[in-house]
Amino acid sequence: MSPLLTPLASPFLEARNRTVMSAMTRGFADSDHCATPEIAAYYRRRAEGGAGLILTEGVVIHPTADGYKDVPRIATAKQADSWRPVVDAVHEAGAKIACQLWHCGRISHSDFTDGHAPVSSTMRAAEGLNRQNDKPYGEPRALTAEEMPEVYGYFVDAAHRALAVGFDAVELHLGHGYLADQFLDARVNDRTDRYGGSVENRCRFVLELLDRVFAEVEPNRVMARISPSRWMGGLYDWPDLDEMLAYLIPEMWSQGLRILDISCANADYFATSGRIIRAVRPHWNGVILGGASLSQEDAEAEVRDGWLDMVTWGRSFLANPDLTRRIETGAVWLPFENEMRNVLA
Ligand SMILES: Cc1cc2nc3c(=O)[nH]c(=O)nc-3n(C[C@H](O)[C@H](O)[C@H](O)COP(=O)(O)O)c2cc1C
Repeated sequence: MSPLLTPLASPFLEARNRTVMSAMTRGFADSDHCATPEIAAYYRRRAEGGAGLILTEGVVIHPTADGYKDVPRIATAKQADSWRPVVDAVHEAGAKIACQLWHCGRISHSDFTDGHAPVSSTMRAAEGLNRQNDKPYGEPRALTAEEMPEVYGYFVDAAHRALAVGFDAVELHLGHGYLADQFLDARVNDRTDRYGGSVENRCRFVLELLDRVFAEVEPNRVMARISPSRWMGGLYDWPDLDEMLAYLIPEMWSQGLRILDISCANADYFATSGRIIRAVRPHWNGVILGGASLSQEDAEAEVRDGWLDMVTWGRSFLANPDLTRRIETGAVWLPFENEMRNVLA
């Protein structure tokens, strides 16, 4: 049997198999930023298709954390309740589901944050245009140290709301250039206080956030996605990569984190997160999720060789809601087409 189809029975995470639908923003929430019946049906199809675990699209934790058009939020009880039918549908079909908690930081614009300046580690705007409104990214306001507890609180409150409506876990989105990554990444973080400069200082925001989260939430209900090496207008590693990993990974473990999703966005896995996973795995006794358009053969080898516990696929799950069944039966995988982004099928 394919190693991808064996159950995962870790003390921190159990799943019927090793296949994970990766978090994918789709922009189909209703005007109140709630999940809809169509969103429930979309996730149900992937669960019925055999996925072991579904990571939701990024779900925005507070109005000031938004950065995209028509994305869901989990900032109110109403928004949280809208996810109940999604969670129930996925559970009925035998899969687990985690809610990805998202704060965009400066990858935003005041058009999406109720008129507020986006917040970040820095006052420097991200380069380029926000493709959501074709305007330059907003001029961010650097968070003060005094404000940070409030931001951690948005994550904690969102986690409680998500778990209360039945999500198996939450995934803290700490990667892909969004708020947490704006602290971790020395190319963005230009602070001179204790949240910038040294490796320890750049990791402080994330570690304080984890401290707050794990004060209230059990380790087996929390995952975190980081992206130390990824695509961003070219292949890109965190500056001081080795020092960052040597400090951050054991500190995340000490805070209570046991489930790590190491992502590279849409880069080549072996050139990016595959490399990071080979550095991290020997020091991580918890669960590791990773992937990016891996072939079945490569995914099987990553699990068999112990690098990954579960394999994430994004676009292949858009093109093949029944991806896991296809692995079972050996059916060919349909190719991803760009137009698939425009429909919630
Ligand atoms: C349409 C689309 C939306 C995405 N949105 C998110 C997101 O909300 N959160 C996130 O962490 N990654 C997001 N990603 C990245 C995916 O989770 C995944 O890491 C990336 O697509 C690489 O995997 P793949 O090559 O298997 O598609 C998105 C990717 C796509 C294609």
